[in-house]
Amino acid sequence: ARHGGILRRPTVVATVPFALAALLGAAGPASAMTSGSSGVGDPYFPLSGNGGYHVAHYGLTLRYDPASRHLDGKAVLTARATEKLTRFDLDFKGLTITGLTVDHVKAGFRRDGQELVVTPRRALRKGQEFQIAVAYNGVPKQVTDPDGSADGWIATDDGAFVAGEPQGAMTWFPANSHPKDKSSYDFTITVPQGRTAVANGVLLGQKTVHGKTTFRWHAPEPMAAYLATATVGKFKVEQYTTRDGVKVYNAVDPREATAAAPVLKKLPSVLEWESKLFGPYPFRSAGSIVDHAPDVGYALETQGRPIYDSAPDLSTLVHENAHQWFGDSVSLTSWKDIWLNEGFATYAEWLYSEQHGGKTAQQTFDALYARKATDDLWAFPPGDPGSGANIFGTPVYARGAMALHELRLAVGDKTFLAILRAWAGGHRYGHGTTAQFISLAEQKSGKKLDVLFHTWLYTKGKPAKP
Ligand code: ARG
Ligand code: ZN
Repeated sequence: ARHGGILRRPTVVATVPFALAALLGAAGPASAMTSGSSGVGDPYFPLSGNGGYHVAHYGLTLRYDPASRHLDGKAVLTARATEKLTRFDLDFKGLTITGLTVDHVKAGFRRDGQELVVTPRRALRKGQEFQIAVAYNGVPKQVTDPDGSADGWIATDDGAFVAGEPQGAMTWFPANSHPKDKSSYDFTITVPQGRTAVANGVLLGQKTVHGKTTFRWHAPEPMAAYLATATVGKFKVEQYTTRDGVKVYNAVDPREATAAAPVLKKLPSVLEWESKLFGPYPFRSAGSIVDHAPDVGYALETQGRPIYDSAPDLSTLVHENAHQWFGDSVSLTSWKDIWLNEGFATYAEWLYSEQHGGKTAQQTFDALYARKATDDLWAFPPGDPGSGANIFGTPVYARGAMALHELRLAVGDKTFLAILRAWAGGHRYGHGTTAQFISLAEQKSGKKLDVLFHTWLYTKGKPAKP
């Protein structure tokens, strides 16, 4: 946390009207001030998320002009104070704010890096529901992550590739941007006619007026801010409903269409297979955004509709859709536990291969285990990657999946699958921690598994022969 409850930068006096600053106690007793923290205490991303309130709903109204890369936005957040607040933070980086109200009354604010510090005219009571409205515009700038990759609003030659893991949401809307806080979303996005704007959830409608098309998207299930998207491009669109009643919307850059088609055709069968294994698909929407974004280098499990920077292979499609259960419906409380997302989605790929005539999970495990002790795979333990720079490293994905394979061998196939289903079902739309997963596995199997998990998740270097 960069600014605490009572330590304030003197800049507040400059940005908040004088009388208001006095009212806030800038010169008065510190005890009168209660502010939400500037982060939720995540050791890897200390400024991500904010304390003191929960956002129930985001209403985002956006206009994007791909030619000038100009974004015009209005965010209306419905929130609830979890403590008395004279001040609170949002995560929001770049872009110019042209108006900010709390409950329709102009509020004071200042910017400090990624923190947008808001001072409402009147203090918010603990438990109080309130509405924050922020109007803003400018050319969004992607963020560079600790590992050197980029995320957030990433301009492309025909629109924008929008993917926010772990911290890119703040590049395009003000948010309580940590997976601890989940919310429902509505999007209204206007783009030039001929472009398509794809967000999360179901398409409520689209309308073209005077050369501009507005898309309205509705995502009712709780979602972490990093999983939100509002991707824009020239896309070929395909829509249908699955046998389970899930609405599928595929948006594909024509340059990727030939390569993507055979893989996207398998989406319904992949979702059915995953539902059989992990329990009912958590969302009412599904699909894919296949962009042509050569500089990105990854896919993201954007909720209800993963995004790919180019045509995915089948294994990647299986991976991103497995995340809908593991990572999206069941969210992290700390980025340190990232193996709960990536290890699980990777193991889903192994299982898919095993059950579709490819390599068995055991063969995949063995090939990985054969790697030399100096290989990247053993560079750090997946349960404790050590920093935000490592959260998407090979150990998190591959050794995380190896940990699950060891669990499977220890408890047997039937119990292993029961554990995965109970995990997805028991934490549906909520959160889970590694400790909770371990205790669930012990409870379901009746076995002590602390040594197994300690070895595979927390021990440095290559574990001894299993
Ligand atoms: N969660 C994504 C996956 O499915 C990876 C996201 C990587 N993000 C990044 N900024 N490098 O594996
Ligand atoms: Zn993943």
